[in-house]
Order: sequence, then structure tokens, then C-alpha cells
Amino acid sequence: MSTQKPIRRITVPQIAARKGGAPIISLTSYHAHTAAIVDRYADFILVGDSLGMVMHGMESTVGVPLDLMIMHGRAVVRGTRRALIVVDMPFGSYEESPNMAFRNAARIMKETGCGAVKLEGGKRMAETIRFLTERGIPVMAHIGLTPQSSHVMGGFKTQGRDEDSWPAHEEDARAVAQAGAFSLVLEGMVEPLAARITRQIDIPTIGIGASADCDGQILVLEDMLGLNPTPPKFVKVYGALGEMIEQAVSDYADEVKSRSFPGKDHTYS
Ligand code: KIV
Repeated sequence: MSTQKPIRRITVPQIAARKGGAPIISLTSYHAHTAAIVDRYADFILVGDSLGMVMHGMESTVGVPLDLMIMHGRAVVRGTRRALIVVDMPFGSYEESPNMAFRNAARIMKETGCGAVKLEGGKRMAETIRFLTERGIPVMAHIGLTPQSSHVMGGFKTQGRDEDSWPAHEEDARAVAQAGAFSLVLEGMVEPLAARITRQIDIPTIGIGASADCDGQILVLEDMLGLNPTPPKFVKVYGALGEMIEQAVSDYADEVKSRSFPGKDHTYS
């Protein structure tokens, strides 16, 4: 018998039940130590494929391999006890067919221990979302600015600036909700459209660069901590981690140069 305290995480139905209730708090994390801190405050933690750009210096999320998502997903699950962990399905791992999506989503869930996956796309992904949820894989959907399609969109562009495009976004939102997604990320979308979608569907919306009226909010942790020198315009920077790291590394370099590190407190006798 295990002597460890059982881990009781926030569940998918608990997140779904927050529609119209207390705002859902979420952040990304890719890493056990930061995830352990975020875990004390967030309802869910997203192991986003933004890790390709943030952790691995890629220009977009398109090149992120499935194995990398699994490796970071495992680290975040190990570092946490409370939040629901959601892992992104990377580009090329789900679009081809529902069968392929199931195979890869099942791998993510079995090999990381996460509680749900996220995938990008609206109406065109509805069949796949239904296929996964009917087979035991909870899906968070993601519409609006979908970074995996940045080559088609011509870059990272705010969606819904032209009111004529609103019905298509609303149709995407309704399609993924009807297909069984338990929540929906609205990224980079004009505020009134995100607010309208939030009113129209019965699953929680999670905004990023969208609207305060969404049922919850998510930010990329490194952006809000001040580690990204060029964060997107909508990001509010709550920390100064970049400056702190710069100062600490510069202090360390000065001490090494002057031979004052390591002193007696930092060596073995
Ligand atoms: O990959 C990611 O971090 C995301 C969030 C921006 C929602 O999809």
C-alpha cells in the first residue's frame, strides 16, 4: 500500500462547471519548479506548445515535436498536485484524422499523466473533438488566433477586426462546444467578439488577448514574469524576472572574476 498522500486534482467537470461562475485562473508552465509555484494559484496549467518558442527558441510553434510535449508534460505533472494539467497537441499530431488524433492524444495522456489535451481549430476539428471525448479524452479547444496556422493567417494577427468575420468565429465556437469540448481558449480576438462568444456557448471560455468577460484567463508565464523582452502588446507584465536574472548573473560574474566566489560558506571542508 502507498504511504504517499493521494493527489486530488481539479477535474475536467469542475472546470466545465465554472461557466459563468468564479473566473478560472490559468497559466502556462513547461517546467517542474515553476509549475509547483503556479499550482498553488491556478485551476489548470497548460503545457502549451508555445514552449517551442519560449524554451527552445523556435520562430513559431509549427516545429514542435510530440515527444517534446510529452517530456515537458511529464515534468509539469511531476511538479504539481492540485491543478488540472492540460497538454497541447502539437502541429501535425491530430489534424489528419480522428484515429491519428486519438493515438497521439492517448500517448500524451498515458505518458504524461495529464488530465486533458488541447487542440487548435473550430468547425473543422469538431468531428475529431467528438471522437476523442467519446473515447475518454477530454478536449480543450482553441480558436481565434491559432498559432499553428500562422503560415496560413500570414502571421500572428488579431482575429475579428472585420465584423463580417464574426459569424465564422461564432460558428467555430458553437461547433466545438456541441462536439463535446469542455472549455475553449479564445486567443487574440477583438474584445466584443470574445464577449459575444462567451455569452453564446455553455462551456467556459478562456481568454488570452481577448476579453475580461471570458470565463477565465490564461497568460504565458514567461511573458507575465517579464522574461520575454518583446511580449505581445496585450500582456500585462507582473514581474521583472529578466532584470533579476541579469543582475544575479552579473553579480556572480563579478565575484568569480575577483575570486570572492566561492567563499568558505560555499565550499566543502
Ligand atoms: O501554447 C500556448 O501557450 C497556448 C496558450 C497561448 C493558450 O496555446
